[in-house]
Amino acid sequence: MSDPATVAPPKIVESVGVVLANDAYAGGQYILRLQAPEIAARAVPGSFVHLRCAPELPLRRPLSIMLRDQTKGWIDILYKVVGRGTAALAERQVGQQLPLLGPIGNGFSPAPRGSRPVLIGGGVGMPPMLLLASELRREPHFRPVLFLGSEVPFPFAPKPSEFMLDGLPPGVLATMPLLDDWGIPARLASGQGFAGCFDGLVTDLARAWLAQLDETARQSVHLYACGPTPMLRAVAELARGFDLPCQVSLEEHMACAIGGCAGCVVQVATPTGPAMKRVCVDGPVFDASTVF
Ligand SMILES: Cc1cc2nc3c(=O)[nH]c(=O)nc-3n(C[C@H](O)[C@H](O)[C@H](O)COP(=O)(O)OP(=O)(O)OC[C@H]3O[C@@H](n4cnc5c(N)ncnc54)[C@H](O)[C@@H]3O)c2cc1C
Ligand code: FES
Repeated sequence: MSDPATVAPPKIVESVGVVLANDAYAGGQYILRLQAPEIAARAVPGSFVHLRCAPELPLRRPLSIMLRDQTKGWIDILYKVVGRGTAALAERQVGQQLPLLGPIGNGFSPAPRGSRPVLIGGGVGMPPMLLLASELRREPHFRPVLFLGSEVPFPFAPKPSEFMLDGLPPGVLATMPLLDDWGIPARLASGQGFAGCFDGLVTDLARAWLAQLDETARQSVHLYACGPTPMLRAVAELARGFDLPCQVSLEEHMACAIGGCAGCVVQVATPTGPAMKRVCVDGPVFDASTVF
């Protein structure tokens, strides 16, 4: 059974994506744009695709959907080269075809009306946060805030934000230009001394902002996070400390990604005791308190 905190998954389709762009960024990062209209139409924040990176690689690789254009029919994926599959993906050229399954997985559930979504993304965990932000911006009553962290240069040119956020050290002004364009306040964190970024962990940046809210404002916050497991653990701790609801998107090694092989199971706390759940189809989004 799916985690009750998440949005039910859309129908998975098997299709072929056509490479529209595959642009390299510092730190072995790439942004891949694929023409994949059926997936663009059905994706929800938290959805991922299972992509065949190259014809000679039989196993597909799971990658999150970062942005999509339902009218033009494309999806964007941010990936980092870490091994054979992602290295092969980096070789793909405009016009090539990539078989893929998607969109897969339960998405983030919307926060209740009047609540304040706070989105925390780390490294290649930023994509689901951006897709969620792109949906939330259509509903003005939400007023989301984003905190993004990276230890390699961000795959965009940061700029000083036009939006104030209280409680942060002086000079912490850098944001992702797209988020400013969307009217969403955001800040960046890194331990690498990048200009305008918070010097430290993205969770400490989020903590500094949460700590200066008055009790009523803080109680309206809903946390959403995706990133490396130690970061998600720290976000879950933040949620516990401030007694806030929190959804996290997990990563696990995946073979089939459609629920058939049980290769991606994690232990999840349920009202009737611990249960084993498949990250691919029961997740990847879970209530943080049930997995950490
Ligand atoms: C639901 C989901 C969404 C993901 N979204 C993204 C994304 O948007 N961008 C992105 O760059 N990556 C994402 N990943 C991770 C990505 O799938 C792996 O980096 C990729 O499969 C590695 O394949 P490879 O052949 O290049 O490396 P491999 O040779 O398979 O592995 C290289 C290194 O990466 C580690 N690794 C492999 N698979 C995973 C995994 N699933 N989770 C954590 N570590 C892994 C291995 O332990 C090893 O250290 C996601 C994973 C999941 C499960
Ligand atoms: S990867 Fe096969 S069940 Fe999840």
